[in-house]
Amino acid sequence: MSSHNRIEVMHGVNLDQLGRRPEAHYGALTLDQLEQKTESWAHELGLNVRFFRTNSEGAFVEHLHRLEGMADAVILNPGAWTHYSWAIRDALEIAAVPAVEVHLSDVSAREPWRQVSVLEGLVTDVVSGQGAEGYQSALKVLAAKLK
Ligand code: DQA
Repeated sequence: MSSHNRIEVMHGVNLDQLGRRPEAHYGALTLDQLEQKTESWAHELGLNVRFFRTNSEGAFVEHLHRLEGMADAVILNPGAWTHYSWAIRDALEIAAVPAVEVHLSDVSAREPWRQVSVLEGLVTDVVSGQGAEGYQSALKVLAAKLK
C-alpha cells in the first residue's frame, strides 16, 4: 500500500439525517450505511478512509484545520454549507490537501442557490448526482492523483 493513501471523508450539516430526507434526491441509505460502502470501495482501491460528521460549522472548520499531516486528501460533502459558507472555503484553503466535493443529488439541476459552490476553484473535482456511487467516483479520482 502506498503511504499516501489516507482519505478523510467529511459530512456536514443534515447529512447525519440521511434515510429521513427526500429519497428522490438523496437515496435511502443512512449515513452509517453510506460510510460502510465508502469504506469497502476505499479498501478495493488500496485507500484508508476516516470519517468525520458534524452539524456544527465551527467543528467542520476546526477539523479542516487539523487535516494537514493527518490526511493526504479529503472528500467533502458540506451539505447546505456548500452554497454559502465562506468560512469553510477559507478553512479548506488552509488545509491545503487535494479535495473532491461530492453531492448525492444533482445540484446543477436543482434550485439556483444550490448551483453555487463556495468551494469552486479549490476542489480538483465535483461529483454530483451519482448518489452513493459518487463517493466511489471521488475515491477513484483521488487514488489516481495520489499514486
Ligand atoms: C447535498 C446537496 C445540498 O444542496 C443539500 O443542502 C444537502 C446535501 C447533496 O449531497 O446532494 O444537504 O450536499
